[in-house]
Amino acid sequence: MAVRLGDNAPDFDADTTEGPISFHKWKDGGWAVLFSHPRDFTPVCTTELGAVAALKAEFDKRGTKVIGLSVDPLDSHARWRDDIRDVTGHALNFPLIADPDRRVADLYDMIHPNASDTATVRSVFIIGPDNKVKLTLTYPASTGRNFQELLRVIDSLQLTAKHAVATPADWKQGEDVIIVPAVSDEQAQQRFPGFTAKKPYLRVTPQP
Ligand code: BEZ
Repeated sequence: MAVRLGDNAPDFDADTTEGPISFHKWKDGGWAVLFSHPRDFTPVCTTELGAVAALKAEFDKRGTKVIGLSVDPLDSHARWRDDIRDVTGHALNFPLIADPDRRVADLYDMIHPNASDTATVRSVFIIGPDNKVKLTLTYPASTGRNFQELLRVIDSLQLTAKHAVATPADWKQGEDVIIVPAVSDEQAQQRFPGFTAKKPYLRVTPQP
């Protein structure tokens, strides 16, 4: 069954390149990104895993753990990791789940049979400290993802979890934000003094 926004992220046990894990225990009450890629030893996937490895420090800064998955076995992941380092210059520095029996892939609906009945699509789940799903993304096998965009979403999610604000199109850390409609003008004056009302329903304020 599809995993949707606001759902509890299903828990699972799995073998990874960093040893066996229990997902919720591994997550340890923090933020996490769980993403699937179609197969080991494929070109787009190789570039993606190097890109995530290059951004590991950025995920760390945001208190966010990253974990990848494909339906390949552990020995295949182990052989592939040298290629990822050789091609991208970035060694694998986060765990990769081996899911040859598709247990986790099925749990998270990562196999879309009309796209491929043997490989996972490029799924992403961002999961909050409360283990609820905060973002889902699905990309086709032929399109590598923009992992900077995931960092941008995490910045937005972490900001909006703390303050009664939302973030506009293409927002980046440090730019103005939107006061959510549930906050009255009177409350907004107290919480965000001097906010600008572009329309009665569109009030902006510097990022808190
Ligand atoms: C790739 O990672 O390059 C890829 C994987 C599966 C299908 C097509 C491309």
